[in-house]
Amino acid sequence: MTAKTIIITGASRGLGLAAARDAADLGANVVLFARSAEKLEQEAQAIRDGGGKALAVPGDISQEADCRRVVERTIAHFGRIDALINNAGVIEPIAPLAEASIDAWRQNLLTNVLGPMMLTQAALPYLRQNRGRVINVSSGASTYAIPGWGAYCTAKGALNQFNRVLSVEEEMVTAVAVRPGVVDTDMQAIIRQMGAAGMPESAYQRFVRLRDEGELLPPEAPGGAIAVLALFAPRDWDGEFVAWDEERVQELVRKYATRRD
Ligand SMILES: NC(=O)c1ccc[n+]([C@@H]2O[C@H](COP(=O)([O-])OP(=O)(O)OC[C@H]3O[C@@H](n4cnc5c(N)ncnc54)[C@H](OP(=O)(O)O)[C@@H]3O)[C@@H](O)[C@H]2O)c1
Repeated sequence: MTAKTIIITGASRGLGLAAARDAADLGANVVLFARSAEKLEQEAQAIRDGGGKALAVPGDISQEADCRRVVERTIAHFGRIDALINNAGVIEPIAPLAEASIDAWRQNLLTNVLGPMMLTQAALPYLRQNRGRVINVSSGASTYAIPGWGAYCTAKGALNQFNRVLSVEEEMVTAVAVRPGVVDTDMQAIIRQMGAAGMPESAYQRFVRLRDEGELLPPEAPGGAIAVLALFAPRDWDGEFVAWDEERVQELVRKYATRRD
């Protein structure tokens, strides 16, 4: 069987890197995309050293030319695209609406919403050919409001709507948005560093407590589910917003995770 090819954005660390490693373990060719060129190449090399097929393509998701370039490089190297994992994301600015920098909001929306749109548009001709999948890494913050997270909540809400529009416009492509839970990555560290200044005390303390009480998820758990969704999400989940740990997702993970042995 021909190996599937997946582009994973934000693959230099955190959830994206965990998803890339798992997708490679499951036999996919993986294309790692993020801005940190050196780290990206190290991680791609580590996957290749482990017997996987990986290509690092450094770039900025908020730049249209970089979105087009990663698609071109992927086709030149692997000859096909079967899935995108739109995972690259930023939380900043953490600040109330009344005070937040407009430039910081612009950069947040460019990264979290317009980036996935630009990359998806560039990849669509190839995704259609293979009845491909787009996995949009969203957040619980897409459906409820967290004070101080205005840009992020707005962006993730928009990402869920992007996912729905994609599902009704593109019948050859399956679009699934996923909520990964609260995960022990740099993004949570940024919330603990910057949250005291930009969030109400009680909202901020909740995130400190989650870390202190050992409640943060390791990135490998939701990352593995995201990789399985990119390879195997059923067609009838098209347009849905799923939680990484809901039963039907975990059933899919159990079904395909065994393939690694
Ligand atoms: N951690 C959580 O609790 C949590 C909860 C819900 C949802 N999420 C979502 O999960 C996704 C991954 O987050 P994470 O927690 O793994 O955060 P993270 O550790 O901060 O990783 C973010 C990734 O995105 C990349 N990135 C950021 N800006 C980029 C840009 N302009 N162009 C290309 N790549 C960019 C970063 O790489 P470079 O800096 O090298 O570019 C990095 O690889 C995000 O969409 C986030 O919103 C996270």
